Amino acid sequence: MATASSPLIAIIGGTGVYAFPGLEQAVRHEVATRWGSPSSAIVTGRVGGRPVAFLARHGEDHGIAPHRINYRANIAALYDMGARRAIGINAVGGIRDDMAPRVLAVPDQLIDYTCGRAASFCDADGEAVLHVEFGDPYSPTLRSDLLAAAVAAGIEVVDGGCYGATQGPRLETRAEIERMRRDGCDLVGMTGMPEAVLARELGMEYACIAVVANWAAGCGPAPGLPIELAEIHAHLAAASGRIPAIMRALLAD
Ligand code: HPA
Repeated sequence: MATASSPLIAIIGGTGVYAFPGLEQAVRHEVATRWGSPSSAIVTGRVGGRPVAFLARHGEDHGIAPHRINYRANIAALYDMGARRAIGINAVGGIRDDMAPRVLAVPDQLIDYTCGRAASFCDADGEAVLHVEFGDPYSPTLRSDLLAAAVAAGIEVVDGGCYGATQGPRLETRAEIERMRRDGCDLVGMTGMPEAVLARELGMEYACIAVVANWAAGCGPAPGLPIELAEIHAHLAAASGRIPAIMRALLAD
């Protein structure tokens, strides 16, 4: 049963997800952190009586490219507001055969191919250096809660998969995706890291809902075709529309 004192859960919206529909008693908070300003105002509110904090990762007008997002400010701001669980919604390309456009997946592993991003809160001489455990980058508890919520909501999601985080903002070459497939990646996106590790550094439970927007370069039934932006947006709009029901089921338990 949701109560007023239930812990705050954060939802970080990715491409195509700039607000949480149906958030009750919504209040906008313009906050700043030691690491700078987050991508957008944080909107707190209630879903089924449970407190929720929503943040648009790319800004509410999608003005911030993946490699320019201040991931530290985003995670620190949500933590400072009291969030101890966070769900990242991330648009991805599908590599594995069952990761077709419009699929939702809850990955259980990741490989980080990003470079030059501020990927740790350990960033000043003399401060404690953390070597966080990251063998399972996503919280097993939050993952299983999400999967159970999807079942309760009657929405199909793929359980598991390896998320490959690339630097962007360009899409990948076919050779890069082929290499990622050999590495064991099932999905490719640009925003999964360092968000996941920053949450871990602060001791937050973190999980990802990956929304497949397109076949990754060279994948799928028509591997020779270029990836069309319009196609990405249509798939994202259709697939993201199923996420609020999962969130409501998660928050209702
Ligand atoms: N590659 C990387 N990131 C993405 C893709 C992709 O194909 N689609 C959506 N985000």
